[in-house]
Amino acid sequence: MQPVSIIGSGTMGNGIAHVFAQHGYPVTLIDVSPDALQKGLSTISKNMDRQVAKGALTLEKKSDAMSRIRTTTSLAAGVRESALVVEAATEDIQLKLRLFQQLDEACPSDCILASNTSSISITRIAAATQRPQQVIGMHFMNPVPVMKLVEVINGYATDPVVTEKVVSWSRHLGKEPCVVNDYPGFVANRILIPMVNEAIRCLHEGVADVASIDTVMRLGMAHPMGPLQLADFIGLDVCLAILRVLQEGYGQPAYAPCPLLVNMVAAGKLGVKSGEGFYKYNPGSKEALPVSFQ
Ligand code: CAA
Repeated sequence: MQPVSIIGSGTMGNGIAHVFAQHGYPVTLIDVSPDALQKGLSTISKNMDRQVAKGALTLEKKSDAMSRIRTTTSLAAGVRESALVVEAATEDIQLKLRLFQQLDEACPSDCILASNTSSISITRIAAATQRPQQVIGMHFMNPVPVMKLVEVINGYATDPVVTEKVVSWSRHLGKEPCVVNDYPGFVANRILIPMVNEAIRCLHEGVADVASIDTVMRLGMAHPMGPLQLADFIGLDVCLAILRVLQEGYGQPAYAPCPLLVNMVAAGKLGVKSGEGFYKYNPGSKEALPVSFQ
């Protein structure tokens, strides 16, 4: 199996490392601090335990998978032998441009550079490198070990041979890849996030309360989570950043973020990660209590 490096050990990065290691790939997980790496490893171990508990993974396979993951804080050392790098760092364009410049210098010349970005242009990221034909989007969904989709995003210059390789890697991870072109929001977030924004508008205009809006979409449309709970799960700052990309990219008023979302992000109510968004969360408990917006 070809070696893979993952940049970023947060929710998405550790999920991506989890699935590659589980499917036999030697994985190098890279982050800026040993603490972040330790936290990422411990999340992978806990998530694999869920699979062990329900019989989807044996303890022996878990231990093999964990032993395939090595960690480092050195980007250059961590990517030296990689066939594929998947970048899952913070959604900050300047950071990603810097990272891709460094990756371009440090990775083998035939290495494919993928970004797990939720909405930053792959073409723009690719332009920071001398190998734009080898840069591609590999957009996993959260929680990565559970969700079947990988949105594979072709930048303006992506070589079809590179796309084929990424499609084949995704299938080998047990995922269903969908190839799309690089336009703002790609497909997943161009459709999902305006729906989330519309749900927030319903709340803002007093059409219904948090629980009712979510129940309509869960029971009426068979969504596993209502759009407000999903917004909390994704992170309200991430939802807002994606809406800004859609607004700037298409220039249509329909993509303007609801003022309530803008206010909540300004107030630090970011959803699950901050303990409160449209629901209140208690660490260690699955319970989510809807907030009243009267
Ligand atoms: N790792 C491994 N397994 C996990 C897991 C994880 N991180 N999280 C959940 N699971 C497993 C559980 O063990 C459980 O397995 P079984 O059913 O086999 O027992 C299963 O997933 C369901 O989990 P729970 O019982 O804990 O909870 P649930 O039934 O409420 O499901 C959920 C949780 C899977 C998150 C479900 O609510 C769901 O599918 N929600 C929607 C998720 C979604 O839409 N994700 C996309 C977000 S958008 C995005 O990611 C892209 C972007 O750019 C913004």
